[in-house]
Amino acid sequence: MGYALDYLAKEIEKMKEQKLFRYPRVLHGRQLAKCVYDGKELVNLSSNNYLGFANHPRMIAAAEKAVRELGAGSGAVRTIAGTMEGHTELERKIAKFKHTEAALVFQSGFTANSGTVSAVLGKNDIIISDELNHASIIDGCRLSRAEIKVFRHADMQHLRERLEECKEAMIKGAHVLVITDGVFSMDGDIGKLDEMCKIAKEYGAITMVDDAHASGVLGRNGRGTVDHFNIHGQVDIQVGTLSKAIGVLGGYVAGSQTLIDYLIMRARPILFSTSHPPAVTAACLEAFDLLEQEPWHMEKLWSNTKFFKEGLSHLGFDTGLSQTPITPVMVGDGAKTMKLSDRLFEEGVFVVGIAFPTVPVGKERVRTIVTAAHSQEDLEFALDKFEKVGKELGLI
Ligand SMILES: Cc1ncc(COP(=O)(O)O)c(C=O)c1O
Repeated sequence: MGYALDYLAKEIEKMKEQKLFRYPRVLHGRQLAKCVYDGKELVNLSSNNYLGFANHPRMIAAAEKAVRELGAGSGAVRTIAGTMEGHTELERKIAKFKHTEAALVFQSGFTANSGTVSAVLGKNDIIISDELNHASIIDGCRLSRAEIKVFRHADMQHLRERLEECKEAMIKGAHVLVITDGVFSMDGDIGKLDEMCKIAKEYGAITMVDDAHASGVLGRNGRGTVDHFNIHGQVDIQVGTLSKAIGVLGGYVAGSQTLIDYLIMRARPILFSTSHPPAVTAACLEAFDLLEQEPWHMEKLWSNTKFFKEGLSHLGFDTGLSQTPITPVMVGDGAKTMKLSDRLFEEGVFVVGIAFPTVPVGKERVRTIVTAAHSQEDLEFALDKFEKVGKELGLI
């Protein structure tokens, strides 16, 4: 008998043949706009540290103080003995920031999505989900055991058709959830949350948005897509992340007190996984103050975004549907995408190649994300290298 996991080795071999297998690059030192991966200094266009908060001196000071005063860990899950004052203070701050009755902090954006969807919906219910929604939503849908209906990306007519299909089940008592990403993580386009809400409400469906890439990026002071569209009170469940623009780690749900009370009792990551250590909570608290007090980080993020996006388009690259700091450079071939990423790495620019299963076959791309921490010089350097390697590979 062979080794029981031999079938995995075969899968890995296949990935290697297709040139799609790789180990993650290792960061030496801090997550900065210019930093060192695998021993090479690079302009970093791959992090989600949109506002540079991961290294903001006030964030670091807040985390240090919390470790000294409150220790390294929380020691328990939230519902047993792991709810510390910082957790509830952060939740009050987030609720105020998002203009909702209440909020609940999870260990990650991933657990916020998967834990919430699977708690709120059950096996007699229906979830209608945009085809490009994040994996954490998809996993939450599967865990809920609800029927899953997918609508074509951002296609509101198709969403309506899907809702029509649910009418009979709704009469029999099924709950229907309509769910979209606020900003789509691989394409950088903004979900049509305003239209989606209008249609969903006509049918009495629950609405949910995953604002992982909109938190700290869109809306007044980074309040997210609900604020961007000025539709406060119309989205039942707002998920955000603390791991990207906020610069630390975690996720949250903002909504009604009823929703939050229910999740405290039923969301499995809250019941069965240990809560954040004090340093994480303290740094997140500081980040929400920074969003209000230092608006220039967001302003710089958007001026850098405009500059870089225009630069890529001017060079002749296909940047897809992007409307935000996430700008894909479409390649449409897995091996070529990895080659582009590798050649740019050699030239001093860090962009990750994205292939199946993260995006469909034929939609392979490298994904770029500019941050507030990039200088004009960094972005000009990156554009020069994109031009050089893009010509070399026949992309422009
Ligand atoms: C759209 C989207 N939702 C959720 C998540 C998960 O967030 P986190 O990294 O905080 O777990 C991510 C990030 O990777 C994401 O891109």
